[in-house]
Parts: sequence; C-alpha cells; structure tokens
Amino acid sequence: MPTSEDVMKALSLVKDPELGRDLVTLRMVEDVVVNGGKVTFTLNLTTPACPLRSRLEEAAKDAVKGIPGVTEVQMKTGSVVFATRDASQGEVLKGVKNVIAVASGKGGVGKSTVSVNLAVALAASGAKVGILDADVYGPNIPHMIGMKNEPEVRGNRIIPPMIHGVKVASMGFFYKDETPVIWRGPLVAGAVKQLLTQVDWGELDYLVCDMPPGTGDASLTLAQTVPLGGIVIVTTPQEAALSIAAKALAMFRRLDVPILGVIENMSYFVCPHCGEKSYIFSKGGGRKIASEQNVEFLGEIPLVTAVREQTDAGIPIIIAKPGSPEAIMFRDFAYKVAGMVSIMAFAKMKR
Ligand SMILES: Nc1ncnc2c1ncn2[C@@H]1O[C@H](COP(=O)(O)OP(=O)(O)OP(=O)(O)O)[C@@H](O)[C@H]1O
Ligand SMILES: [Mg+2]
Repeated sequence: MPTSEDVMKALSLVKDPELGRDLVTLRMVEDVVVNGGKVTFTLNLTTPACPLRSRLEEAAKDAVKGIPGVTEVQMKTGSVVFATRDASQGEVLKGVKNVIAVASGKGGVGKSTVSVNLAVALAASGAKVGILDADVYGPNIPHMIGMKNEPEVRGNRIIPPMIHGVKVASMGFFYKDETPVIWRGPLVAGAVKQLLTQVDWGELDYLVCDMPPGTGDASLTLAQTVPLGGIVIVTTPQEAALSIAAKALAMFRRLDVPILGVIENMSYFVCPHCGEKSYIFSKGGGRKIASEQNVEFLGEIPLVTAVREQTDAGIPIIIAKPGSPEAIMFRDFAYKVAGMVSIMAFAKMKR
C-alpha cells in the first residue's frame, strides 16, 4: 500500500518550471492523506494568478497517480502567496506582502488604466488586492475604478473602500480642492509617506501602486520608503516614449528596485468596421526596449475604444467584458506579473 512518504517523494520530483525547485521544497504540498489506494492532498500555488496553473496541477496529479498501488487521486488547489517584503513589521504598509509599482517615462501612456486592470485581474483570480493611487498630480484611480463613496476615516486612519474586489486608497483622499497644488519636493515626499502610513489595508497579497509619470519625487520616495516587489514599466511603441521609458527603467534599477518587465500599451488600433490593425505609434517598440534592457516583455494591449469607455465609466474592461480580447490580454499580463513576483520573492527567500 502507498504511504504519505511515497506521495511526498513523488511530488519532490515535480519541479515548478519558473522557480526551478520541486513542489515539496517550495512547501506547496500539504494535507496529504492516504487511505488504501486513495490519496488526497492540497497543492498550494505561490499565487492564485499562477500562469502555469494547469501545467503544475497536471504534473502533480500525474506524479501521484504513478505511485504503485494508487487507484484514486483527489487534489485540491489553493494558494499561499509568496512575499517580497516582511508584512508583519513596521508601520508602513503593514500586512502587505507585495508592492507592485506601475510607472512610465512619458505621461498619458496608460499607467492608470494598466494599474486598475492589473489590480482587478489579480483580485478576480482570488488574491487579496489593493490599489494605491500615488499620482500626486492627477489622482484619478477612484474615478477609473468606479469609487462612489467617500472613504471611512477613524481617527487619523483611513479604511479603504473595496470596489470590484479591490481596496482603494488615493492621494485624492487628502487633497479634495480643485485648485492645483504646487508641489515641491519635500511636500510630495511627505504626502506619499502619509498615504503609506495612514491607510489600514488589512492583509493584502498585492498592492498595486499607480505612479505619476516620470522619475520625480513621488517615485523616489516610494522606492526609498517601501521595499518594492517590483516595477512594471508602461510604454507606448513610438521612439519618443521609448527613450524616456529606458531612463525611468535605469532610475529604478539604480534604486535597486526589481524590474518585473515592460508592457506596451496602445500597440495598435483595430478598426471597429473592417478589423484591420493600424500601428499608429509604430510597431514593436516595447518588445525592443525589453530585449535591449534585458527585462521581461509582459505583453501588448491595443488601442480600443471600449478600454477608454470602460475606464471613463468606472467599470474596468476586465469586469465589464471579461471575454473580450483586451480583457484576456490584460489578464495574461496580470498573471505574468504575479508569476514574476513569485520569482522575485523566491530569490529573496534564498538569500
Ligand atoms: N489601451 C487603451 N485603449 C484605449 N484607450 C486607452 C488605452 N489605455 C489608456 N487609454 C486611455 O488613454 C487615456 C490615458 O490613460 P491613463 O490615464 O491610464 O494614462 P496615464 O499614463 O496614467 O496618464 P498620466 O501620466 O496622466 O497619469 C485615458 O483616457 C485612458 O482611458
Ligand atoms: Mg495616471
């Protein structure tokens, strides 16, 4: 008759292809019960948004099925998200396992759109997710994600409301006035720190952080105050955007922020009448910069009216049209990002 040791041994021969280690070493296996020829166990993925989910599930199940004497395998899949930071310590972002910053060189390339869809896609996968709108100049995440009510304030603490499964906090919570704030360096740093310390996130697997464009004080403060799990650089395909995307990437590298990769937005326009693709802003720039900088290329998102309409309406495309090609592209991107974060977390664990 098979034993639970046999099961662990069989699973120790199955490797997670991304992390390069076996499922037992990665502590992905628990609750093994062997009853005659029947084996039940739980496979805990390192993220519910696992890009290799079905491959891993199949490999684990097959390995156990191959043990002599096993007649039936019941496997549950769960997840325990790997952390790139110590969530139990300190007053800055307590309870948050991973901070994913979304930045760009040029403004208006779609950082906020990408951030919102990333956050919503991760939440839909089953992860606990927050979005932090750190754009001191134009905080528009509450509008894009469809936040209707004011956040609850208890003393000097802010309880972020949950919308589409995502907890939301914004620089705009502090500065309601329509008159433009003339930000000077230290003020920006202070405001970002306030946002980082006064919000009660509870427990989060991922906090997606939407940055203002460029490499100014807000980005610097964030990178220096919180260990970032990594940064996603958003660019459009044209030369003018690429050269400053490379500069932003270099700055974050200098600050020792892990680069998760580059996503190209507004890659092409699909004619709603004839379906023809037009490469308005040139072609292949995002892929090129990723390869030149030796970072992951995380995908391309076309310029589609529905993406803009849905963000204007406060119902991100991932929620409004989950089966649309754009939603699928955003979801694939989100899963790639989650996979990259697991890799970064694992690299930290080994150190
Ligand atoms: N793939 C897309 N298809 C169509 N419209 C898009 C797409 N991505 C972004 N947009 C639209 O382009 C505009 C700018 O996008 P967004 O606000 O996300 O950019 P941003 O980089 O955050 O800008 P800023 O630098 O001002 O913060 C918005 O109106 C948004 O709806
Ligand atoms: Mg923005």
